Amino acid sequence: MTTDALPTTSLGRALVHAPGTPDAAWWRDAVIYQVYPRSFADASGDGIGDLAGITARLDHLADLGVDAVWLSPFYRSPQADAGYDVADYRQVDPLFGTLDDFDAMLDRAHRLGLRVIVDLVPNHTSDEHVWFAEALAAGPGSAARERYLFRAGRGVDGAEPPNNWQSIFGGPAWTRLPDGEWYLHLFDSRQPDLNWEHPEVRAEFEDVLRFWLDRGVDGFRVDVAHGMVKAPGLPDWAGHVSMIEGVDDVSPTDPVDRADEVTGSGNQGPMFDQDGVHEIYRAWNRVLRQYDGDRAMVAEAWVEPLSRLARYVRSDEAQQAFNFAFLAAGWDPAALRDVVTSSYGVNDAVGAPTTWVLSNHDVVRHASRFGLSTPTARPNGIGRADEQPDEALGLRRARAATLLMLALPGSAYLYQGEELGLPDHTTLDDTYRQDPAFFRTGGAERGRDGCRVPLPWSAGEPAFGFSPSGVTWLPQPAAYAAYAVDAQRGVPGSTLETYRAALAARRSEGLGTGGLEWLEELDGGDVVAFRNRDVLVVANLGSAPVELPADAAVLLASVDVERDATGGLVLPADATVWLRAGA
Ligand code: NOJ
Repeated sequence: MTTDALPTTSLGRALVHAPGTPDAAWWRDAVIYQVYPRSFADASGDGIGDLAGITARLDHLADLGVDAVWLSPFYRSPQADAGYDVADYRQVDPLFGTLDDFDAMLDRAHRLGLRVIVDLVPNHTSDEHVWFAEALAAGPGSAARERYLFRAGRGVDGAEPPNNWQSIFGGPAWTRLPDGEWYLHLFDSRQPDLNWEHPEVRAEFEDVLRFWLDRGVDGFRVDVAHGMVKAPGLPDWAGHVSMIEGVDDVSPTDPVDRADEVTGSGNQGPMFDQDGVHEIYRAWNRVLRQYDGDRAMVAEAWVEPLSRLARYVRSDEAQQAFNFAFLAAGWDPAALRDVVTSSYGVNDAVGAPTTWVLSNHDVVRHASRFGLSTPTARPNGIGRADEQPDEALGLRRARAATLLMLALPGSAYLYQGEELGLPDHTTLDDTYRQDPAFFRTGGAERGRDGCRVPLPWSAGEPAFGFSPSGVTWLPQPAAYAAYAVDAQRGVPGSTLETYRAALAARRSEGLGTGGLEWLEELDGGDVVAFRNRDVLVVANLGSAPVELPADAAVLLASVDVERDATGGLVLPADATVWLRAGA
């Protein structure tokens, strides 16, 4: 046990981020809840979640205390990549309902005080998009093929792909057509990449933005935000492309622009993070500014180092970018401290809010990751034959990580079900898998289905209340009963009530627009400790208990905070506490 029982008032502080003004634009400090429509709530009974299901459950989100909702794609799509393969950007897929259902959902959300952002998927379309159908029909050399990246092959008879790029889902990034030409797809072969040098492509997406802005959405989450522009000539590149791993360069020592430090590792190949992509954000920023109400974009850009990522949130580009370096920091106090310091350094330099995220529909949920012997950023799905997480340890650490995250100034993203402490389905039978990454890697990557399992709402109902018919598109583990909303609501100390309390305190204490100072005598080693306004936050990532300042009062904790023999407050292992500083 440490003996750092200094009174809160005499703790030294190192300023990292100065407080902002409480009346800042909503996206500067919003807590944004990701709804993955096919797994949130199913009103129709077909086993797949839908817009009417979301509308019916929006009260849960208002009650939880989030500020906004981000919806993953619900557009017309053959669902080759769960809707990230869009066939019509202006239509709702019948699986999810109709445009009227969308309007009703949006209206209900706004009435509840929730903003709504929708997904924009501009890097690629579905192979069932009308443009791709036209391109296939028109043949080599046609104007219709100019909207995509069609090329002749290399080698004898053009039988080799035009370059050596690999798909992020495994296998080559090129597919050959019977007429001999190849087309590029950074993801599945059913997701052809668009040619962003084509003026029609640019005009079309500005129009798509307007379509949804006119309907009243508050903003967009931009998919593969760093991918649209490719290096001229599409040169060979031997590096490895991935979604989230590799975002690990977060040195706090040099938060200035290190654009010349591109090493060719990570996600810095010729298909990603090209300078030309920023012109697209400037154009979209101009579109958003034509609307009232602080509409916003968040860039899903897996870019390193963080100084490169900050270029996406310059004042005339996107409002936010996901901070995957935080998600990737694992259960490592030094890495967390570094990423927090670095993030404020680079984002403050461009006047943008820093964002925080621990889980989404592409990674193993943090309650499962933190239960692994090595809680890495992105084990690409967990299968039956893999190491199984320690469920209790994972949940305990997940709650601690969440309390740390929700005390940080900026905007935070929650993934549906994390407020329940939900783990992944880690023993899913392979016969149920749908993620193209599983099939394109021959099962080497288990894929992302484990974090996409339908939510449990009521422990005693069929499909745990997800669907009135009891049907679910992926099976739910029996253990989900204990995580159901109705098993936790009103239960003191439950994960749901802890999230609710944290969101309420975050709001009442002004933490989202607050500042961050490391607490010098407490922070260090296994302990991450900082002050934000009048709240002291102490996270113990080690195995030994930590003595807390004698004069502090507990506001909130991820576990019960104990008292030692002398009556002093003690924070056990794998736990976070929010304390009120002494007067
Ligand atoms: C990122 C999305 O989050 C992921 O789910 C999708 O598979 C790829 N982009 C391709 O659109």
